Amino acid sequence: MDTRILGTDHKGITEAARILKEGGLVAFPTETVYGLGANAMDDEAVSKVYAAKGRPSDNPMIVHVAKPQDLTLLTDNITDDMKKLAENFWPGPLTMVVQAKPQVSRITTGGLDTVAVRIPDNETTLKLIETAGMPLAGPSANLSGHPSPTSSNHVYDDLQGRIDAVIQGEICKVGIESTVVDMTSPAPVILRPGIVTAEDLEKVLGKKVELDPAVLQKPKILDNGKLLETEDDYKPKAPGMKYKHYAPKAEMMIFVGEPEKVRLAIAAEKMARVEFGQKVGVLIFDSDKPKEAAHDFFAQLRAFDKSGVDVILAAALKEDGVGLAVMNRMFKSAGYNIREVE
Ligand code: TXA
Ligand code: MG
Repeated sequence: MDTRILGTDHKGITEAARILKEGGLVAFPTETVYGLGANAMDDEAVSKVYAAKGRPSDNPMIVHVAKPQDLTLLTDNITDDMKKLAENFWPGPLTMVVQAKPQVSRITTGGLDTVAVRIPDNETTLKLIETAGMPLAGPSANLSGHPSPTSSNHVYDDLQGRIDAVIQGEICKVGIESTVVDMTSPAPVILRPGIVTAEDLEKVLGKKVELDPAVLQKPKILDNGKLLETEDDYKPKAPGMKYKHYAPKAEMMIFVGEPEKVRLAIAAEKMARVEFGQKVGVLIFDSDKPKEAAHDFFAQLRAFDKSGVDVILAAALKEDGVGLAVMNRMFKSAGYNIREVE
């Protein structure tokens, strides 16, 4: 199939909505990363999303709606906490996991009786959802396992020929995916960290917000380079968190430690690698500006792949606040190939 590139004007949105109503796939811009949209209530349409991405079908998708009232299309259990979070963070990079109505496709939810939902902060996509008149299921619009797409070009590079269309919207402001918070029990639990932090949620809810322990866990790597991920070792509650993810084509190595020592260790490793004939990419973000790191991270991995580097040497950020969200992605990208610098 030819993948069409659509504009963000009325014509583009009308055409995208028509494709979605007919059960097709359209990639759409959001403030976090691009999503791959399909009608969330239509089994056949959402099945095509898994196929196009090469995504395991037990990994549920996030459903995007245009206004808080649309939550009633997806769930009957709207709590006061959910209302508070919706008021404070939507449209924006926060996804809530809630009990799903029977009408929500169990293919969308990966067979679960819960559904993940958010209102994206992007004018084009809000108009698209209104025009199509459906909740829009949308995982990130990358091939499964690749870095998430933060521009329409990234989507096109991964999915041309596999989806009906991509809307050529703006570059994503946030750059990493939304925070996912499980709201199905009285104590909310963050399943995936993002730029909305536990502290931000606690301020609004006036209660403790937990972090799924799997978020901080670093699975061991075996001698053959494979991850040791047995059921007992690593059990994230968001199914998507268990797969190796966001990986560049190049080998990637993360240096953890005191910033100045990390810089020296990276410089030494770079020299050794260059001497060995390798092309080296170095990724050092300003640790005082984790939001900038979030914005650039996936785009940088893709740029390194385009320039054909053999190895990416990256400095870790502190694992707190937004830094936690960036490091969650960085560790997965590197397949937990971590070097502690003494
Ligand atoms: O920012 C974002 O969230 C982007 C944009 C497009 O909105 N979407 C996104 O979707 O990142 P995806 O499919 O790449 O990641 C969805 C994550 C996965 O880790 C998935 O396992 C988890 O949310 N998830 C979805 N539904 C869930 C549910 N019912 N229970 C637990 N986790 C769920
Ligand atoms: Mg994804």
